[in-house]
Amino acid sequence: SSDGAGRLFELKARAGTTELLPGKQTPTWGVNGTFLGPTLRARRGEKVRVAYDNRLPEATTLHWHGMHLPATMDGGPHQMVEPGAVWKPYWTIEQPASTLWYHPHPHEETADHVTRGIAGMFILDDEKETEERTGLPRDYGVDDVPLIVQDRKFNDDGTMELRGATTMESFAGVGGVGVLGDTILVNGTYDPHLKVTSTLVRLRLMNASNARVYNFGFTDNREFHLVAQENGLVERPVPLRRIQLAAAERAEIVVRFEPGQKALLRSFAPDLGNSFPTERMDGGEDTFDIIELRAAQKLSKSRPLPERLRDTPPAIEVPGDARVREFRMSGTQINGKDMEMTRVDAVAAARSVELWDVTASSDGMHTLHIHGLAFNVVTYKGKRPPAHLRGAKDTVHVPPDEKVRLAVAMPRHVNADFPYMFHCHVLKHEDRGMMGQFTVV
Ligand code: C2O
Ligand code: CU
Ligand code: CU
Repeated sequence: SSDGAGRLFELKARAGTTELLPGKQTPTWGVNGTFLGPTLRARRGEKVRVAYDNRLPEATTLHWHGMHLPATMDGGPHQMVEPGAVWKPYWTIEQPASTLWYHPHPHEETADHVTRGIAGMFILDDEKETEERTGLPRDYGVDDVPLIVQDRKFNDDGTMELRGATTMESFAGVGGVGVLGDTILVNGTYDPHLKVTSTLVRLRLMNASNARVYNFGFTDNREFHLVAQENGLVERPVPLRRIQLAAAERAEIVVRFEPGQKALLRSFAPDLGNSFPTERMDGGEDTFDIIELRAAQKLSKSRPLPERLRDTPPAIEVPGDARVREFRMSGTQINGKDMEMTRVDAVAAARSVELWDVTASSDGMHTLHIHGLAFNVVTYKGKRPPAHLRGAKDTVHVPPDEKVRLAVAMPRHVNADFPYMFHCHVLKHEDRGMMGQFTVV
């Protein structure tokens, strides 16, 4: 609901059961339902208020992934919501149109709570992204469709595998990426298809899996266009045939259809940059059918894709004296340390731009996410990043034995006492302590 005091989202998390696989009941958690949660939507400049009512049997949190807001509203591990309690964060939307999401973030329990089903999409709008300005399809559920892609592992009795150790993990005691599922759910749906009714359809692809990396493309190898990254529109549509998304990465793509055509979106074997057998154990050889798109015999004609989606590139300007920090991701630690709730790892100046040099060891699969802000990838594997990595992002896959340099635009919200998080978005790694904290002063 929306009134003078802003938009209010009333969210209630609870446990239940859901028929995720045909004919089987799976114990699940959900928001305003029994699995996943509603798509939330707000406009730039709008005030947002949330009432998050925790009816789950455990304490949890709700984090706004990709949202630029004060650390006290961020829903990280310091903002636990006890069972029966209601958490009421509020903030103003101060960032460009983008596809964000929400999910729990309790210390050491994130993988479990996300796997059970607490997650949803949070779409932001602004005047620059409107159909009149960009011509992009934006009729939600018709030609602008959220695709929340998750993998799950089901036991014979219908329960989901929540904590199963991988071979590697039981062998080494640490490492391993947690549960890699062999069943794909899209928006919580098994074996999904989508009816297409227009010549262009926009897909908001979101990798909401705990660890798995997908390499999306169509089986007929058709071209599509990337129009937005995690934190907003790219400068011009980028023609692609594949797009690889690590855990928590998002991409908005636009796909063209002829009447009556069918197109199968598949995840091809991703390139994790690792060597055998780690590459295989982390899913580097896996392929999955994601969703079939079926175009109607008569399609409404979409507006052509514009040449430019924004007047200026989403570039973060780096001053010559920018502070440089180094982060090494290895095992389940960052810079050789486990997450410590009372330790602040970095103190940044509000609105400053920092360069973060991130490297990962060859022993695993790591993806860095930073709360409360957007960054640009300045170099990827020592080079100018490929077109699909140029833009405003909040999450990036860090390949083994390579350096990724990020230009990080620090939040404007000052709070010396309350930190934001940065961490590996392989949730098992995050839970094991692959996370740090920074404050903004
Ligand atoms: Cu998507 Cu710290 O989270
Ligand atoms: Cu986040
Ligand atoms: Cu990791």
